Order: sequence, then C-alpha cells, then structure tokens
Amino acid sequence: MKIAVFVSGRGSNLQAILDYRQKIKSIDVEAVVSDKLNCPAFEIAKRNSIPVFSIGSKEGCITYDQLGGLLEELKVELIVLAGYLKLIPVDFVKRFENKIINIHPALLPSFGGKGMYGMNVHEAVFKSSAKVSGATVHIVDPVYDHGKIVAQQCVDISNVRSPEEIAERVLMIEHKILPYVVGKFAEGKVKIINERVVIID
Ligand code: GRF
Repeated sequence: MKIAVFVSGRGSNLQAILDYRQKIKSIDVEAVVSDKLNCPAFEIAKRNSIPVFSIGSKEGCITYDQLGGLLEELKVELIVLAGYLKLIPVDFVKRFENKIINIHPALLPSFGGKGMYGMNVHEAVFKSSAKVSGATVHIVDPVYDHGKIVAQQCVDISNVRSPEEIAERVLMIEHKILPYVVGKFAEGKVKIINERVVIID
C-alpha cells in the first residue's frame, strides 16, 4: 500500500512507520508532507530517499489542491497525519474520504479538539488527575480530532508526577498503535460496518 505521511516536527511516528516495514513489507511511503519548509522529520525522509513537500503560499510550497493531484498521481491510498498540526481543509478531506488517519496522544473523545496537541494534551490530562491515558488513531473528518476511532490503547498513569511522564508513556504507545493501524489498512483489514470501524484480525 502506497502512503503519504504528514508531519510538523520531530518525526518519531514517521520513523516508527518506516521501522515497521520490516514486519509489513507492503507499506511504501511515497511522500512526506509538512506545513513547514523544513523540520527534523524531513531529515528522516531524506535519509530514506523519500520525497518531501511543503504546503503553503511561500516560495517552494505547493497548495493542497496541487498536493491532492500529486498524491493521486502517486496512487497514494492512505494519508497518515503523524504530528501534523494544521486542520486539513474540508475539500481535501472529502477528496480523500476515509483515507486520512490521525494519531492523537490521548483517549478521544476526551482531551481532543482545537488547541489540544503536544504537551497541551498531557498537561490537561495531568491536571484532570485521570488515572489512565493513551493514544487514539482515528479517521480524519473536517472537525479536529473528531472522526471515527480506528484503534486505541491505554496506559496506567496513576503514579506519574508530571505531564512529561505522561507524554513519555503515551509516545511509546503511539509508536506501536500507529504502525499497527497502517499495517491493517495495508492488509485491507479495516472496515466500516454499520457505521462502526472494525479491524478484521
Ligand atoms: C505525537 O505526540 C502525536 O500524537 C502528536 O504530535 C506528536 C508527533 O510527534 N499528534 P512526532 O513528530 O511523530 O515525534
């Protein structure tokens, strides 16, 4: 399965997907895309000879419409948002309906929505005194962190002393659950039955 990965920062989830290709060899990362002109995740892409593209109006950037045409030409079947911080425009979501997934570092629908990204999430979870957190992979629709949930995994945080400890434990889960879901898409095992997403194991 040909995929594109959208990033904004460090790229550790991109790296986790690239590493997972040892297990699921049918995953081809055709492009890495960012709202940034450069970021550490682009360095990971270049080290793996994967083309990178920046979205925006600055010189050297392409528009979402141009990107859509490019991804269709590359025959990309799945778009993975891995730390991508911008809201995807509605017409782009519609163009790739049910083919865009996102990883969120909390158990949606809790602790999601506009402004809930990175440490903001873990600080909110910490302050709530929640005893579990985790990661969610969901299908992207036009609303932040709102689409149908594909997979979740939780982690005990009852003994944490800081939001940073939560972030560390959740990131380890992200690096497992995101590649797992990409692999299931590659195997054609993610279905929507009676409006509910199921993974056929
Ligand atoms: C992850 O915590 C992810 O859940 C959130 O942004 C972070 C991306 O980290 N959406 P990385 O760039 O993949 O290391």
